[in-house]
Amino acid sequence: MSEIAAAAPARTAPPENTVHEGKLVRHGIAARVIHWTVALFFVVALITGMPIWTPVFGWMAYLVGGLQVCRWLHPWAASAFFLMTLVMWVHWHRDMKLEEQDKGWLGPKLIEYLRFTGEDPNVGKYNGGQKLFFWAAILDALVLLLSGIVLWFPANFGQGLREISILAHDLGFIFFGVAIIAHVYLGTAAEPGTFSAMTRGTVSKAWARLHHPRWYREVTGEKKR
Ligand code: HEM
Repeated sequence: MSEIAAAAPARTAPPENTVHEGKLVRHGIAARVIHWTVALFFVVALITGMPIWTPVFGWMAYLVGGLQVCRWLHPWAASAFFLMTLVMWVHWHRDMKLEEQDKGWLGPKLIEYLRFTGEDPNVGKYNGGQKLFFWAAILDALVLLLSGIVLWFPANFGQGLREISILAHDLGFIFFGVAIIAHVYLGTAAEPGTFSAMTRGTVSKAWARLHHPRWYREVTGEKKR
């Protein structure tokens, strides 16, 4: 080995849940690539789906070359979105197991969180809201896939199933839209310091101590105060 190679810093990415150059490594390269691929296909499915849904969003069709392109591209982009969501499930489902302290996130804890008043020292790597969002996204992706298949090949299904599928597809998509707006807001403007978790993969110690205290203690080995 040459002297230069021996002196060069290690090129392998630091593993998740460790401290690296004063920061906590939150998401490794695999998690980030999976997340942004899911997001990319989601956006393509959204842009190509909205003009099919209503002419109000007809202008979006021009972004991809017209309504005919949307009709062709939407089911394929949506299928890729579902497949990547499945990969995301494989990657994250162990971390997203709901625990005792996650109870209440559909009610009072969510309100406290949104008001920035809740301080739970036992929040681990993901809080209850993040876990619920994860499971809701998986479930919703499944609903969109199943109803989408019926709408893709309508001649193979009965009238009743087609009508249920239109309703399920619309409701599933509206729910996803609202959830994603909240998700993007919480991951960027609402909680400064969060976005870098999904870009560089790291967060500051102060961020981790504030939002995910138990995870912070597990990674740094610091004792509970
Ligand atoms: C396009 C804009 C998006 C932005 C800016 C964004 C941002 C982020 C950030 C910063 C995190 C890390 C949070 C943390 O480590 O505590 C995250 C996690 C996550 N994202 Fe996104 N995301 C986007 C789109 C999506 C989409 C389309 C999905 C679709 C399902 C998604 C699903 C998830 C899930 C399941 C997690 C883990 C749970 C959580 O932290 O909420 N994201 N995202």
